[in-house]
Amino acid sequence: MSFLELTGLARRYGDFHAVSDVTLAMRQGEFVSLLGPSGCGKTTTLQMIAGFIEPTAGSVTIEGRDLTRVPANRRGIGIVFQSYALFPHMTVAANVAFGLEMRRVPRAERTERVGRALELVHLAHLAGRYPRQLSGGQQQRVALARALVIEPRLLLLDEPMSNLDAKLREDMQIELRRLQRSLGITTIMVTHDQNEAMAMSDRIAVMRAGRIVQIDTPEAAYEYPADDFASTFLGKSNNVPARVTGRSIALPGGLTLALPPGGPPAPQGEVLCSLRPEKLWMTEPGSGQLRATIRSRLFLGTHWLFQVDSDLGELLVYQQNTNRVPPAEGDVVGLDWHASSLRVLPAEPARLGH
Ligand SMILES: Nc1ncnc2c1ncn2[C@@H]1O[C@H](COP(=O)(O)OP(=O)(O)OP(=O)(O)O)[C@@H](O)[C@H]1O
Ligand SMILES: [Mg+2]
Repeated sequence: MSFLELTGLARRYGDFHAVSDVTLAMRQGEFVSLLGPSGCGKTTTLQMIAGFIEPTAGSVTIEGRDLTRVPANRRGIGIVFQSYALFPHMTVAANVAFGLEMRRVPRAERTERVGRALELVHLAHLAGRYPRQLSGGQQQRVALARALVIEPRLLLLDEPMSNLDAKLREDMQIELRRLQRSLGITTIMVTHDQNEAMAMSDRIAVMRAGRIVQIDTPEAAYEYPADDFASTFLGKSNNVPARVTGRSIALPGGLTLALPPGGPPAPQGEVLCSLRPEKLWMTEPGSGQLRATIRSRLFLGTHWLFQVDSDLGELLVYQQNTNRVPPAEGDVVGLDWHASSLRVLPAEPARLGH
């Protein structure tokens, strides 16, 4: 039996479908991210699970018990809201202790657990401050400590690290994941940061316009995106209109390629042919499978990002920074890739069928 089951969860506001038919089964201890652009229904989905927004259809079940009509405070869920909503008149320590007091945890244990939780978010030294005396990122970490301290059976995190700087964010991702694993807390995290979703999750649910379009492990979602949207929301992709007949793919410019073996069965007819920019490499002009002209290049530290013109149209190409002199704007190069890097995506947006 799954630990958490969402079945056909939906929320309408008048004629507007904020969330439609969200179905998801999670095992105990699993970490799932809801990843998608602003307004796609991530917070609404989380709030329905937490019990703060009533679904217009569907159900939420934890360990076989239907919670759809159970009030939020009786669901045993820890939540970090997108706006962290700390109690302004309470110190950091008191904010974190609040949930434990409600649960009548004895004082000595309370003090110890609050200390540990604050330690975890690197805020032990600010225990006596009030929220207004903290930066946004510090407040966010208090909210995280407040949710973790009760060791909930289900943890819901709404962009819990959006206000942290890159370095702190990476540290927190690693620590949060370690803690989540060691305590075995089933966790759903909302984020629109693809790297965060990939680094932390057992599975990623890619959302668009109120629906889950794909749910997979980070590797599977990245290597086999369901459609155009998923391929460009999780990483970058060169998606070129093409036509599949049998095992042959006809591309613009008269280029014909063979369908790569493995992966899900490819659609036939009008499709999009997807090549990730890091799976292309530049060769001597006149060699490789395509001829391309460098239009622009961008230095990104670990690698260069090139924009090139080719018979397939404009393409993005990553090249690792190996200290070799990179091609310059206007240079002509060859482009090559392994046949197995090619993906065929449906021309129409994917919809997860249930
Ligand atoms: N009370 C409401 N009345 C009408 N529409 C609403 C209401 N709450 C949310 N919406 C709409 O539902 C959609 C989903 O909102 P939601 O807050 O779930 O998005 P989100 O994915 O969390 O976005 P973000 O990344 O910006 O936080 C949005 O288009 C929003 O405008
Ligand atoms: Mg939101």
